[in-house]
Amino acid sequence: MSVSIIGAGPAGFALAVDLQHHGKDVLVYAHPTHQRHANSIKDNGRLEARGAMEGFAHIEVTSDMRKAVEFSRILILTVPSTGQETVLHELKQFSLRRHTIIAIPGNLFSLVAADLDVGCIFETNLSPYSCRMDENGLTVLGRKSLIFIAPFLPRGRPLNSSIFATVQDLFPMQLRWCSSIVEVCLSNVNGVFHPLMMLMNAGRIESTAGDFLLYRDGLTRSVGNAMLAVDRVRIKIGEAFGLQLKSAVEISNECYGQSFGDFVDLARNSPPHNKLKAPPGLDNRNISEDVPDLLVCWCSLAEKLGVDAAPIKAVIVLVEMVTGVDYCETGRNLRRLNLDSLSRDELIATFKGMIPSRL
Ligand SMILES: NC(=O)c1ccc[n+]([C@@H]2O[C@H](COP(=O)([O-])OP(=O)(O)OC[C@H]3O[C@@H](n4cnc5c(N)ncnc54)[C@H](OP(=O)(O)O)[C@@H]3O)[C@@H](O)[C@H]2O)c1
Repeated sequence: MSVSIIGAGPAGFALAVDLQHHGKDVLVYAHPTHQRHANSIKDNGRLEARGAMEGFAHIEVTSDMRKAVEFSRILILTVPSTGQETVLHELKQFSLRRHTIIAIPGNLFSLVAADLDVGCIFETNLSPYSCRMDENGLTVLGRKSLIFIAPFLPRGRPLNSSIFATVQDLFPMQLRWCSSIVEVCLSNVNGVFHPLMMLMNAGRIESTAGDFLLYRDGLTRSVGNAMLAVDRVRIKIGEAFGLQLKSAVEISNECYGQSFGDFVDLARNSPPHNKLKAPPGLDNRNISEDVPDLLVCWCSLAEKLGVDAAPIKAVIVLVEMVTGVDYCETGRNLRRLNLDSLSRDELIATFKGMIPSRL
């Protein structure tokens, strides 16, 4: 099986190495203006992986989207959701009716890509790896044993059920099939962890240029209390869709095969988390991706559903005050997701029964 990975960052290269180890032919696409990691691999002639995955890999990289589209009928997107529209613009040049796209993470990419001529789109909640890259190679801090996934099936569009087996065969970890992409999006727990950890440590990040461990030192009891408030809203939104979502800690535990009791326990003791350094400033995707494409999305869904989202709104407002960016406008609000004209009931119905019940 061959796979094209669209997105040449740590998550894309970790997936490329893992898939190659599992016998797949892999091609990584690096956008012409996002080449820094691809260039270091070209310079070194190979990629060295350390940590949870070890060894040297020769990964082919291209900046020609046509080559990526022709290489495989499976395209896995590993750009941040803020980069999905750039990639979408490139993909629209091709007929992809026989292709399957898997967006890692999805963050409701399928709705943004509504007019893309593609066979099927799947979305995951998280990247399968906790990983970072520098000029010396790839460090994999953790490899998840499970990720959440769902396809988006516009009404009336048939789906060949063999695609589910193909997608499971592709991933070297277990897949949790969710009822819909909205369940998957609400299971991207980065929206609970990241923005509050950044906001509540903003002074420390700026005064030390991130010289501390973000989870171990930055996720203390008070930060955890604020996360609990956001997490309760996320779960209430799920209830309005008829979903019984687990808590953010339970989802993280499930994905990494862990059993931490609460946020602070996880922050102190989880190996994929407790060695992560804080970023050098607030201009980081923990805010620039997770606020517009998760919190704004969750908040606008909550408003339509009649769920009180005050804790999420508070985080968005504070982030907007801190950064000066109007994330409510630029983020994945209902208008950008093409959901604004729907009634509450229509919104709920849009995401009902999206995958065959036997899965
Ligand atoms: N790495 C992790 O541990 C981890 C864990 C959980 C979830 N995730 C999620 O997985 C996704 C990928 O993670 P990552 O660490 O690989 O991210 P990344 O390094 O920030 O981005 C991946 C690649 O996409 C490129 N890119 C950024 N904006 C783009 C745009 N507008 N158009 C085209 N390409 C663009 C980046 O280029 P530049 O280098 O120029 O930015 C990079 O080559 C993100 O959504 C992230 O939140 C990652």
